[in-house]
Formats: sequence, structure tokens, C-alpha cells
Amino acid sequence: MRFAIIKRTLSTLKLLDRRQDPKFPINDLTIIESFISEQEELDLIKYLNRKLRRLPYETNHFDHVITNYREMQISEWPKEFEHIRHRMISATGLNEPSSINWKPFHALDLGDRGSIGKHVDHIEYSGRVISGLCLLSQAVVRFRAKDQPDHYADVLLPQKCFYVQRDSLRYDYTHEIIADTNGNYNFMGSTFKRSRRLCLLLRDDIKQQ
Ligand code: OGA
Ligand code: MN
Repeated sequence: MRFAIIKRTLSTLKLLDRRQDPKFPINDLTIIESFISEQEELDLIKYLNRKLRRLPYETNHFDHVITNYREMQISEWPKEFEHIRHRMISATGLNEPSSINWKPFHALDLGDRGSIGKHVDHIEYSGRVISGLCLLSQAVVRFRAKDQPDHYADVLLPQKCFYVQRDSLRYDYTHEIIADTNGNYNFMGSTFKRSRRLCLLLRDDIKQQ
């Protein structure tokens, strides 16, 4: 068990730039690379593209936090993908994750210039775990302590990874998906161009616990 935690921390470390925030609570973040196979990713993308096909991209969220996106709650998750949902639930790291009530999946499609400004997910809406399965392209998520917003840690979320933020990262830090207006972003000194990205977000349900 201890060995598993050490291994998990090491794999998270190479995706993490915490030079601006050495106190970043690394134990409250898990990133599992290659969480799904190429075929599983293709099948999920095909399914999500079909679900989203009639929705236009929005330019601005009502509170301007997010641009160039579309989103949907998926209330009936297909049986053929149930094993992936189970894999995600067990990987959240919660004790007895199957006894927890989970909210329906939230699919978020960010266009190639899309970004998400800093925010904390509504604490009345969901509980202490926010997790996401990242499809189509990589992105960088930036975490800032709420009481020290000038300090930040950047985390590279590779395509096909599953990431989990919990506890202090969920409540005491904001998160944002960075990109300038042209969709460019930087990680560890290299510049990348954002391309379209899908994220399948899984959150626990606070009301039913
Ligand atoms: C959100 C969010 C992050 C992501 O939808 O609230 O922060 O990885 N998404 O897409
Ligand atoms: Mn969020």
C-alpha cells in the first residue's frame, strides 16, 4: 500500500511544476496516465460526439469563467462503458468508493481556444472529490491557494489520463484550465497550442451522504 502511494506520487511529480508554490499539497492530487486504452478512448469520443452534436459552442459562461465550450450532463450512462465508470470510481482513492453516491457524468467539451478561469466548484453541488477523464488532447490545470492567489502550481493533464482532486485541493485551492486568447499555453518552459478537449467529470454527491 505504501509502495503504491510512493509510485503514485512519483508519476504525479513529473507532470507537476510547483516552483511557484512549493507547499502545493501533492497528496491531494492523483494523476493516472494511460487510464484507458486507445480503443476505449475512440469509443468514448464517438459516443460523446454523438451526444453533443446538436449543441453549439458557447462563447461565454454567465459568470465569464469559461469560454468556447459546450457541456452536458449524461444521466443514462451506457452499459457498454460501465466498466470505465467503475474503474474511475475505484481510482478516486476514497475508502469504499462503491458505497458513495456519485453524480451523473458531466461532459465538458472545450474548443481549441477554450479556457476555464479560476474557480472552486460549487460546494453546495458536490462533495470532496472532483475527478476527470481527459480525452482528445492534453491541457494544463493551474491550482492557486485561495489565500495566496499569486502562487500557483501547474499540472499537465495528458490525453487519456484520469485525475482526482480532493480535500484541500478541492476546497482551499482554485483551479483553472489555462490558455491565452489564441489557445496557447506554457508548461515547464515549452509552449503548446490547445486543441479541442473533452473531459468526463465525475463528482460525488454531497446531499446523499
Ligand atoms: C469544471 C472544471 C476541469 C477539466 O468543469 O468545473 O474545472 O479538467 N473542469 O475540464
Ligand atoms: Mn471546476
